[in-house]
Amino acid sequence: METSRPTRPSDSVIEVTDLHRHYGAGATAYHAVRGVDLTVGRGELFALLGTNGAGKTSTMELIEGLATPTGGSVRVFGRDPYRERAAVRPRIGIMLQEGGFPGELTVAETGRSWAGMTSGARPVEEALELVGLGHRRDVRVKQLSGGERRRLDLAMALLGRPEVLFLDEPSTGLDPEARAAVWRLVRELRAQGTTVLLTTHYLEEAEELADRLAIMHGGQVVVAGTVAEVIAGRPSRIGFELPEFTGTALPVLAGAEVTVDGRKVTVHTTGLQDTLTDLLGWARHHGIALGALDARSASLEEAFLAIASEASHQPEPEAPARPTARRRLIGSAR
Ligand SMILES: Nc1ncnc2c1ncn2[C@@H]1O[C@H](COP(=O)(O)OP(=O)(O)O)[C@@H](O)[C@H]1O
Ligand SMILES: [Mg+2]
Repeated sequence: METSRPTRPSDSVIEVTDLHRHYGAGATAYHAVRGVDLTVGRGELFALLGTNGAGKTSTMELIEGLATPTGGSVRVFGRDPYRERAAVRPRIGIMLQEGGFPGELTVAETGRSWAGMTSGARPVEEALELVGLGHRRDVRVKQLSGGERRRLDLAMALLGRPEVLFLDEPSTGLDPEARAAVWRLVRELRAQGTTVLLTTHYLEEAEELADRLAIMHGGQVVVAGTVAEVIAGRPSRIGFELPEFTGTALPVLAGAEVTVDGRKVTVHTTGLQDTLTDLLGWARHHGIALGALDARSASLEEAFLAIASEASHQPEPEAPARPTARRRLIGSAR
């Protein structure tokens, strides 16, 4: 019943179920995507995070219909993006991780040739203005900077006024100003109802833009949800240094995990305020000055690093995928 799963987008545009992708065949086959489930609702901005090689691009290409999965299913607008390419492709915009256009054409010529292959294309000038490349229209592509080429890739992905926009590392190689401009544009597109699936290395990009996100590792989704959901349950951290000579034993901090390394003490706690109050009360009572005292709430960055290091300490799942492989359905308690 719909009401039993309130976090499931009511109108999902992308539905991925138990997705697998192998590169190569036989003994040397590499199992890059190992049972990914995800759902993206209409108008939602969903971010795929993960270390290099996590399987983000491999997953994204299957959803874009550029390759066919070795297992599981992908639906975009309820259709198979690979087999029903003619129906799906005109409604989506793709910015590949490795884009690129012929260097000899100018920016405007590139736009015109691309527009010629795109149904219902917006005017080329408009697409170039959207990404701040209007003034570069007569420059040859090979003379653009790396960041400008990236923005040209984005402009071409926007030409067909896509309902769903795929952005694979859109801001890698952009300077901070250009990155901020891309974020503004992505937010505007989303406000106009565009569904966006993006991958990124920048955690703050996901924090800024994403309605929901998934962190991938080793071809699997390790955790998914809103930023708040992903951070929830992750401990806050307190760090400090004890003075050189303290006869006093450290306090027992209820519900906290204390690690001591020489004079350095690290405390992980899910009740930051209570633990900090206890710690400071103890220090005052004993007249102890805590050096380099630092307390911080769990952040997406900490969650990301913890997941990456936890996951890298686990043995790699063997190919072919075991049916018991850890999987979670994103944003849904199916
Ligand atoms: N064409 C390919 N042939 C063989 N292995 C590949 C190919 N493309 C990607 N891989 C491997 O698949 C894994 C996932 O890659 P990718 O999806 O590009 O990760 P991400 O985008 O998260 O960095 C990596 O180990 C990568 O080396
Ligand atoms: Mg990639």
